[in-house]
Amino acid sequence: MRILFVGDIYGKVGRQMVDDYLARIKSHYRPTMTIINGENSAGGRGITEKIYKSLMEAGADAITLGNHAWDNKDIFEFIDQANKLVRPANFPPGTPGEGIRFVNMNQIEVAVINLQGRTFLPAIEDPFRTADTLIEKAKQRTNVIFVDFHAETTSEKVAMGWYLQGRVSAVIGTHTHVPTADERILPEGTAYQTDVGMTGPYNGVIGVNRDAVIRKFKTSLPVRFESETGRGQLSAVIIDIDPSTGQATKIKRLLVNDDHPFND
Ligand code: FE2
Repeated sequence: MRILFVGDIYGKVGRQMVDDYLARIKSHYRPTMTIINGENSAGGRGITEKIYKSLMEAGADAITLGNHAWDNKDIFEFIDQANKLVRPANFPPGTPGEGIRFVNMNQIEVAVINLQGRTFLPAIEDPFRTADTLIEKAKQRTNVIFVDFHAETTSEKVAMGWYLQGRVSAVIGTHTHVPTADERILPEGTAYQTDVGMTGPYNGVIGVNRDAVIRKFKTSLPVRFESETGRGQLSAVIIDIDPSTGQATKIKRLLVNDDHPFND
């Protein structure tokens, strides 16, 4: 089976890239399942029910989140009914939503897990021990386990890849918005990439208006961050998995922007 994972959708430009390219990418690569990280899909801050539904209609089979999960208050109205929406599993007990969802794709059950790092991000539960518990739960139903590890530092993500290798099908990083060139199959059959990158404005600073960010760095004064406008990019990764063992066999990076046009 094949999983297409599309990195962090950022605002209107990111959603437009999904509309413009997702169907084309899917018809070219024919994934069994498409997962999208949507934590910045509403103007860079969280997700709304309308956007959740539109991303599902555009071709997502599951949507993961991250540290911006609660930025748009709309989330509290629908997260418990959205059975394909996954928020970081290591948020404190009692948090709305779920950190693991099971999705059935052509008779193959896929466990989708979202975890969040703790380095330079809010202090939450331990993602490593949370992963242990969730994998045990997932293994009772399926060997195909996809982990979106939403974290700031490369080292925490690399460590998670090694920690989970051989136990899950893929550990793919999100949050930093810049794709890393380290995609590989770890020796025990886990697909790994430190960060899949962002789907959003190509000419901003990780999605944000570049003039505002430069002003912030130069003056340290409060600055209102808005999404950058203009041209977009789409970042994704394609992973082949043997559904009987859950082991990944192939991983391929995909970047679409003005400098890397998509050829069907
Ligand atoms: Fe994030």
